[in-house]
Amino acid sequence: MVNCIGDVYLIPSSGTGAMELAVENFTRMDDKVLVVDTGFFGECFYKINIAHGRNAIRLELPWGRAAKPEEVINALKTNIDIKAVFLTHNETSSTIVNDIKVLASKIRGVSDALIIVDTVSSIGITEIDMENWGLDVIVAASQKGLMSPPGIGITSIQGSLKGKAFRIGHMGFITSNDLLVAIAAIECTLKDLGFANGGAVNKFIELRRKYEV
Ligand SMILES: Cc1ncc(COP(=O)(O)O)c(C=O)c1O
Repeated sequence: MVNCIGDVYLIPSSGTGAMELAVENFTRMDDKVLVVDTGFFGECFYKINIAHGRNAIRLELPWGRAAKPEEVINALKTNIDIKAVFLTHNETSSTIVNDIKVLASKIRGVSDALIIVDTVSSIGITEIDMENWGLDVIVAASQKGLMSPPGIGITSIQGSLKGKAFRIGHMGFITSNDLLVAIAAIECTLKDLGFANGGAVNKFIELRRKYEV
């Protein structure tokens, strides 16, 4: 549903757990990373990076407006050697939606940094096209747009990252029957919304045509 040709991991966690997984698995200790902070959840990505020992540069923007591409590009130009850029799609705390398609294409124009996006409150609600927008990792959760019980963090990664993930080497094993309920609920939502068989992008195009005047 997010047009990802890579892998999708379902994690027994909240959305915050999926954010932490992205930081831990796709950046290293002391890596310089840029966190575009447009509100509470951007700040959360920043704090997770700091807690994990990343050299996080915080681009703190005023609440209530989306990040402008030039602001992100300036931050990338002034801070060389950024390994990953963290973005929030729908910043739930202030309800703004960052234009990830435009931001990602501008970032790609000047940097090879990984583009990691928090889509916790946008997945299932608005278009996300990992493949065509050039997103490396997205993190999401079961309980918002997917209208399912909480308890499943979702991480999708681009195919090129396969094998580079999960290098921390101390994974545990968790079993939980509760999660099966949430997985079954996600499946129902995907069918109800017409997202089965990779139809997400078409579905959003169809909805846009229907409601745009
Ligand atoms: C944009 C965004 N990111 C992250 C989170 C954190 O998700 P969770 O509450 O499942 O840890 C939320 C939750 O509201 C969110 O809206």
